[in-house]
Amino acid sequence: MQLATDGQLKHFLTIEGLSPLLLEEILDRAEQFLSNKSQNKSPVLRGKTVMNLFFENSTRTRTTFELAAQRLSADIVTLDIRNSSTSKGESLLDTIRNLGAMNCDMFVVRHQHSGAAHFIARHCPAHISVLNAGDGHHAHPTQAMLDMLTIRQHKEDFQPLKVGIIGDILHSRVARSQIHALTTLCTGEVRVIAPRTLIPAGIEKMGVNVFHNMEEGLDDLDVVIMLRLQKERMQGGLLPSEREYFSLYGLTEARMKLAKQDAIVMHPGPVNRGVEIDSRVADGKQSVILQQVNNGIAIRMAVMAMTMSGQAGELARQ
Ligand code: CP
Repeated sequence: MQLATDGQLKHFLTIEGLSPLLLEEILDRAEQFLSNKSQNKSPVLRGKTVMNLFFENSTRTRTTFELAAQRLSADIVTLDIRNSSTSKGESLLDTIRNLGAMNCDMFVVRHQHSGAAHFIARHCPAHISVLNAGDGHHAHPTQAMLDMLTIRQHKEDFQPLKVGIIGDILHSRVARSQIHALTTLCTGEVRVIAPRTLIPAGIEKMGVNVFHNMEEGLDDLDVVIMLRLQKERMQGGLLPSEREYFSLYGLTEARMKLAKQDAIVMHPGPVNRGVEIDSRVADGKQSVILQQVNNGIAIRMAVMAMTMSGQAGELARQ
């Protein structure tokens, strides 16, 4: 449902099912926006109105979507959900219908429930594009694309790479979207590294190799992606303690020596220092964490521009 009948990118809800050429087109568009060093505003979304609907907290995604919309000359409204009529019991469907009546062109949606962005895309007026800014543990497609852009800036070609995703895979929408993106872009090997309790059953079917031993999983990696322990989504009993988790799966300077010498360290944020990663690694010379954040603006500009202008159409059909 992400592609219009003419093959153009209409919504951006998940990486799953998109073609490698379309993903590369998003990366190329983002690079074009990054090369505009003068930061001049692009007129691509002039006259368009974007609504930022964040039903769950965010620092990076919400702010970079706002900046991206502004740099494309759109009008942007960020709804304060806590002070909206949702708190008086209005249903999601009624909220969306009412916002849809305000002649806006795009909803950027973050929601705690998996499938919320798809639901909104199915029920909003036909001219509105919906961009998924993270839904439950399902998908976070713009995060995965900014991660791919960061990897490509350092490693150029995905094919020879060994990429490890480490930590709370079970609750991570970022990991799912990263796996779809990395496998679509033909990455040599994608590993997930975590305790058994934090790996969803059947994840091998997504084309990854599973490791439960951190040292074995880190061996010879080109890209080390750390994930946050999502304590707010845990029912309890999945981990003995944060201290023990760090002792077994925390990324330390000593452990980083097992990866390739020129390996990069990534993290989507927010970072739990001393829980999944040592500060000396998070702030060290191999870390590209803040570069990821900066790339978020360009990626979100690219996706916004493509869903509005339909420039992805030809590629999406291939
Ligand atoms: N990476 C990420 O989604 O961060 P925020 O929750 O701050 O948006």
